[in-house]
Amino acid sequence: MKFTNIENVIHEFYCPYHKNENLTLKHQENNGELIISSENKNYKIIDNIIEFCSLNELQEEPHKLREVEGIDKAHKQYQGAALVGRWNDYILHLRMVKLKLLIEELFQDDVSTLVFLGSGAGTEITQILEMDKNKKIKRVLASDISLNACKISAQRLEKYDIEATIFSSDLDYCPVKKNTNYPIVIIDALHHTPDMHKSIEKLLAYGYKNIYFVEPTNNLIIKLLEKFGLARRMEYSGLIPGRLEIERLKTMANEYQYSLKINTIWEFPADYYRKLFGSLASKKTVEKLFLSTIDAISYVTNFIKSGNSSIVHLKKKNV
Ligand SMILES: C[S@@+](CC[C@H](N)C(=O)[O-])C[C@H]1O[C@@H](n2cnc3c(N)ncnc32)[C@H](O)[C@@H]1O
Repeated sequence: MKFTNIENVIHEFYCPYHKNENLTLKHQENNGELIISSENKNYKIIDNIIEFCSLNELQEEPHKLREVEGIDKAHKQYQGAALVGRWNDYILHLRMVKLKLLIEELFQDDVSTLVFLGSGAGTEITQILEMDKNKKIKRVLASDISLNACKISAQRLEKYDIEATIFSSDLDYCPVKKNTNYPIVIIDALHHTPDMHKSIEKLLAYGYKNIYFVEPTNNLIIKLLEKFGLARRMEYSGLIPGRLEIERLKTMANEYQYSLKINTIWEFPADYYRKLFGSLASKKTVEKLFLSTIDAISYVTNFIKSGNSSIVHLKKKNV
């Protein structure tokens, strides 16, 4: 991976907190370090990563501060294991089902440059790069609210033959200009903002041409399980994340003139699987059989879009 020269990409961004302001690259007066400036704000560049979102920006948003603390703690704990890609087969299977559906749709678009938001430590980016057999992806813009996660992403992307621009940013204040026309890809991150539907609405109101996301989804069964405390559990950050409401998404898509394509699948949490099957859970044949059953249920329920995880493509209509 090679970092794209920031000088050459500065025009792709604007000030995320004052959207009408363009950015310039300059040297800081006191120490000569490179920074990015708008009329009102300066953004640091740390190890080639642009810090569009620092703890300062989050002072008024305790939910997001806790999110950053939570994700940083989780990465400290798991970084070693994740970096060598030691994924549990069960989790990997469900993730691949989602990524395959995402890629089927995404690769109909021009994927030479992709923008990943809320991309954490870049696990899914690397998985998508591995699935890109024809090497169509030439450049990625990768971003997360946590600067530490961005740093791990940079490390993980190192071995791939691509260009990258990495920046910390808040999903509610995306610095990428809409006229770049790069597809925006968000995987399991929107439900971590204080109000995921408001976050989606901000992206639609701004008018990005193509937005792809994968997010946990509400349905009647989930609502019932929630009553018994079996759904919408507390995450690593100590927060209970949201779930996508498909009807609300349809209304927003209509309002902001987007065509909407949704596929749903069922995800069955690995710890519930282990509880359900006890000592049998570790047997590969049991795991395979169970996952095939889940896949079959996903296939059937996708006809009426009633799974608990959605793969969404929103495309701005020509207006
Ligand atoms: C469940 S993880 C998904 C991670 C990612 N897809 C990956 O491959 O590792 C959720 C991610 O959303 C990020 N996140 C949470 N709130 C955010 C926000 N307001 N803006 C940007 N990213 C956010 C978290 O830091 C975390 O990395």
